[in-house]
Amino acid sequence: MSLLLRPAAMADAKRLLDWRNDPHTREASFQSDVIRFDDHCGWLERVLANDSYQLWIAELDGQPVGHVRACTSDVETTLSWMVAPSARGKGVGKQMVKMAVKLLSGKIRAEVKSGNAGSARIAEFAGLVLVNAERDVLVYEMTNE
Ligand SMILES: CC(C)(COP(=O)(O)OP(=O)(O)OC[C@H]1O[C@@H](n2cnc3c(N)ncnc32)[C@H](O)[C@@H]1OP(=O)(O)O)[C@@H](O)C(=O)NCCC(=O)NCCS
Repeated sequence: MSLLLRPAAMADAKRLLDWRNDPHTREASFQSDVIRFDDHCGWLERVLANDSYQLWIAELDGQPVGHVRACTSDVETTLSWMVAPSARGKGVGKQMVKMAVKLLSGKIRAEVKSGNAGSARIAEFAGLVLVNAERDVLVYEMTNE
């Protein structure tokens, strides 16, 4: 699989929103409302201008197929991700999150909604370890050198 990560840009706004508003993505998200394009563009502008965030687009053979977001605080980096509906079930999620983890140092965590078996598998494949399972949230962590 020829997968690469590149930084996201405003030109990715529409595809990111299409992926985010997909019903399966909304079901897997802690914030499940349909997001409007204007609101999404405002959010994306703020994220791209904020040094605490890294937003990558995964490309498979030159086609955008997913996204990984890393938000870094003083203590840890929190990861989230989604795969384009048309690219699911091909191993993209596992590969792109593993690639993102290799670009990060320090404590890394991810929160996965209970029942999201695909993302639980992805977190484990990337090296994250389940440290807490309460109510509807699975918390995964790892520490890189
Ligand atoms: C969950 C999601 C990221 C999976 O992406 P993907 O590229 O299809 O996943 P992969 O092909 O890399 O598969 C990962 C593993 O999960 C399994 N899997 C994938 N989707 C699954 C599903 N719906 N139910 C059960 N298992 C699933 C795969 O079989 C694979 O398991 P394996 O390691 O035993 O082979 C994708 O469906 C998605 O973007 N969903 C909506 C957003 C989301 O869940 N974001 C995560 C928030 S942290």
